[in-house]
Amino acid sequence: MNGITYSPQDLQDKSRLPIGVFDSGVGGLTIVKEIMDFLPQESVIYLGDTARVPYGTKSQPTVLKFTTQAIEFFNTRGIKMLLIACNTSSSLALPYLKDGLDFPVYGVIDPGVSEALNVTRIGRIGVIGTRATISSRIYEMRLKQQRGEVEVFSYPCPLFVPLIEEGWIDDPVTYKVAKRYLDNFKRHGIDTLILGCTHYPLIKNVIRQVIGKHVALVDSARTLVREIKNKLKILNLENKGGSLRYEFYVSDEPEQFKKLGSFFLGREIKSVKRVELEEYKGCMK
Ligand code: DGL
Repeated sequence: MNGITYSPQDLQDKSRLPIGVFDSGVGGLTIVKEIMDFLPQESVIYLGDTARVPYGTKSQPTVLKFTTQAIEFFNTRGIKMLLIACNTSSSLALPYLKDGLDFPVYGVIDPGVSEALNVTRIGRIGVIGTRATISSRIYEMRLKQQRGEVEVFSYPCPLFVPLIEEGWIDDPVTYKVAKRYLDNFKRHGIDTLILGCTHYPLIKNVIRQVIGKHVALVDSARTLVREIKNKLKILNLENKGGSLRYEFYVSDEPEQFKKLGSFFLGREIKSVKRVELEEYKGCMK
């Protein structure tokens, strides 16, 4: 297998292998940050498809194709589980992946749904995400499947991703855009809002200011990583002896990722390698 950088012991003992984290770009680093803080003994291989980001404006077959190519990349590296950080891939591709992969794959939708149902008191839940995620209606379907009587109100917020990528976090422009989008929720009287996109936790403060303190914000990255801690235990995959490493791969220019990624991660990313994802065939049902 091409490109494996792990020792024979690591490969023999699955628990020593890293957790794979996949995103369309840099946003999934919010999950890596959670892993570093909450599961500090776990190694990570991160892949950001920076050449083809954004996924949020693309069609389902395209997002599925890109996601399966990424999965094939992880197949060649050796990982013990894969986290799909990207809400758009989790919505449009994860439900259509073939069974029988070498590792379990988890997305961000179900953790977000469980957390929202845990925190809502009145059953009126808002969802924001990319256009593709919101059009898929996956959050709404899953929320209603689990609790039929909840009311769900969803709006895409496509300008948030470029604003955040520009680093305009606590910026009056971002605040104005947030107000324009989130005012949609005023008439719905929600008490819970799912941040259905990798990037949105970075502007949590702005969102909180605009939507008000009475609305609980659900951050799927946080919830997923907390669930993963349990899953690692149940599957006997907690890393107890393997060396710790973080590897970062992108499908486009590494330098830009290093800069923006260090900001997302809150610590310096020293090395980023480039991969040609187009070379991977992809594996679908
Ligand atoms: N990672 C995407 C998501 O969480 C946002 C960026 C994109 O559109 O690719 O939906």
